[in-house]
Amino acid sequence: MKVVVFGATGRSGWRVVERALNQGHEVTGIARTPSKMEMTHKRLTLVQGDILDYDSFANVLQGQDAVVSTVGKGERFGSVELYSEGIKNVISAMEEYGLSRLVAITSGGTYPGWDRKNSIFYELCIKRILLRGEYADMRRMENLIMETDLDWTIVRPSGLSDEEGTGEYRTKVGYSILESNTTTRDDLAEFIVDELESNQFVREGVAVVNV
Ligand SMILES: NC(=O)c1ccc[n+]([C@@H]2O[C@H](COP(=O)([O-])OP(=O)(O)OC[C@H]3O[C@@H](n4cnc5c(N)ncnc54)[C@H](OP(=O)(O)O)[C@@H]3O)[C@@H](O)[C@H]2O)c1
Repeated sequence: MKVVVFGATGRSGWRVVERALNQGHEVTGIARTPSKMEMTHKRLTLVQGDILDYDSFANVLQGQDAVVSTVGKGERFGSVELYSEGIKNVISAMEEYGLSRLVAITSGGTYPGWDRKNSIFYELCIKRILLRGEYADMRRMENLIMETDLDWTIVRPSGLSDEEGTGEYRTKVGYSILESNTTTRDDLAEFIVDELESNQFVREGVAVVNV
């Protein structure tokens, strides 16, 4: 499969790139600063592009099979437009070049109300104060994706960690999973590539955690 990964220099992004390469796929990583990427591989192409600048990447999608968005901002307190404005460009480019498969990371924090599976601290302090702008824009991104006719999968991890992956993750259609509030980036990447190969959750939003 020919896969385009936005945010290839990010902590989840490079893991998705690596996992996809290990699985035998051909990967094009799009990053604002490709030189940050230390990985080289004969099936890896790096392209300088900004998800907020359509012309910087659109034609790269020609002839590709799938797109993965791992971009993120981590903006505390402020307002955010990266997710929604970025995905508008990605969707337009996919439609222009006839691609249908999109996998995009958001977060379990996009649950629109009070999610009883989460702690009071998370619901009150993180979701409603610290990362309020992030989650609001991720919700806009999710809505934009869901309005398309694409074969999309929205991936909602819990708190991400750089701990070594377990090779075992749990998934469930929805926002979060009661038994865990952490997801290793290794396992997130494994799930994303598994999902590209299996198409198990097409047109679904799915929580992924470690147990
Ligand atoms: N942190 C958590 O606990 C958590 C929990 C749930 C979900 N998430 C979400 O999971 C995803 C991955 O998180 P992460 O912590 O692994 O990511 P990360 O390490 O923060 O990487 C984010 C990536 O997005 C790229 N990016 C930002 N703005 C861009 C733009 N305008 N154009 C192109 N690329 C751009 C960054 O590129 P540069 O190198 O150029 O900056 C970077 O490669 C994010 O969407 C995040 O919001 C995070």
